[in-house]
Amino acid sequence: MSLIAELDSKTRKLIEKTRTHLLESGHLPGFFYSSEEIFQREIDAIFMREWLCVGRVEEFEKPGDYHAMRIAGEPLVVCRDRDGQLRAFRNLCAHRGVEVAVGQGNARLFTCRYHAWSYTLDGRLKAAPHSTEVTNYDFKTCRLPSVNLDTWGGYVFVNFDPDCPPLNECLDEDGVREFAGFLQPENTRTSDKFEFEVPCNWKFVPENLMDMYHVGVIHGASFGGHFPINDFRYNLNGSGYNAVYESYTMAPNGVTLFGPMPWLEGKVTDKFACTTWVRPTMNIFGRHDLIQPWVAMPIDVNRTHVTIYTQLPEAFFDEPGFAEKNQIYADFIKLVATEDLAMLESLQTGISSRGFQPGPTVKLERAIHHLINYYLDILLDEDKDARAIRINDCAEFLADTRAKYPEATDGGYSKTFGSAQV
Ligand code: FES
Ligand SMILES: [Fe+2]
Repeated sequence: MSLIAELDSKTRKLIEKTRTHLLESGHLPGFFYSSEEIFQREIDAIFMREWLCVGRVEEFEKPGDYHAMRIAGEPLVVCRDRDGQLRAFRNLCAHRGVEVAVGQGNARLFTCRYHAWSYTLDGRLKAAPHSTEVTNYDFKTCRLPSVNLDTWGGYVFVNFDPDCPPLNECLDEDGVREFAGFLQPENTRTSDKFEFEVPCNWKFVPENLMDMYHVGVIHGASFGGHFPINDFRYNLNGSGYNAVYESYTMAPNGVTLFGPMPWLEGKVTDKFACTTWVRPTMNIFGRHDLIQPWVAMPIDVNRTHVTIYTQLPEAFFDEPGFAEKNQIYADFIKLVATEDLAMLESLQTGISSRGFQPGPTVKLERAIHHLINYYLDILLDEDKDARAIRINDCAEFLADTRAKYPEATDGGYSKTFGSAQV
């Protein structure tokens, strides 16, 4: 039975309202963020289907480097094998399912902690002690189940669906490579990785990162004081979300300590800012001097793990005083994230209240409206036509961007900033 048919008429009306045009629309009913049933549907429909960012290639520099994690409760291990190939496996022992890799580090083999079955870094079973008498089990073909892995821009992505479309196809559907490619994330390295757990549903994290309504309010003392919410141009395209806007860098008083990334020098000003959403849970932010993606991964229905990477060009790492400057950037993003954290926690408490009624979406929440309708596209699979009512102003966005940056774009946004696919 479809989800919508199972809901009471009051809830159906609220969802229908969310499906309408932005200025007649409303936020999602609270149970979308607190229901275990919705969460389980999201795991199947989103997290087991989409490409998910799980790290940076530089975190797996040497053969044997590995990172074990859980994504919405699903155990996964990513590693670089002896031949230098990056691989991902379901982190499940073929004996009884214990996770064979733990934490992160460097390993020659993955040896299960329970009964010591061991696996090579390409996933093959190497040894299963005390098992020679066993019949009717093929130890030779036994292995950790492979998970699809690919990279773009130095980011490592995995996909649990064996029949998934290629990563680049998914990225291009939403214009990710076009709009974020010009930042050249592949030529940067992680200078800081800030990880924390937030007591809220995973959807609130990307929503918050597209929410330009709150920036001047809760971030007024950090970066929000000079944030031009009236000149915030979106490209909402399919499930994609890209924006180019004006904001100084993510450092105290918006002052860069490094200067522009070499490949953006002379092309953008120190007020250049952009953001791209990589569905379902990665928001990349770019400034003239850095790249700062946020990646959110659900732990359970109301707990989410967030990683904020700060990435800088290789050359910045060799500058005098790098460690001190880098610490200033690291402290600043922690401050900004802490400002968000309190709101995210309170959002979850509020929507869980029996007294919560969702309010209207305002013009500044255009991207959130787009995003929550993406969730509904997936969860209410009988309602495909509703996609048509979503705002698609790609052409307007591109014309506007070309007009705004004529010298930088040399007559074409994509010519300078990405692969020519406009
Ligand atoms: S569960 Fe791994 S060896 Fe038994
Ligand atoms: Fe924020």
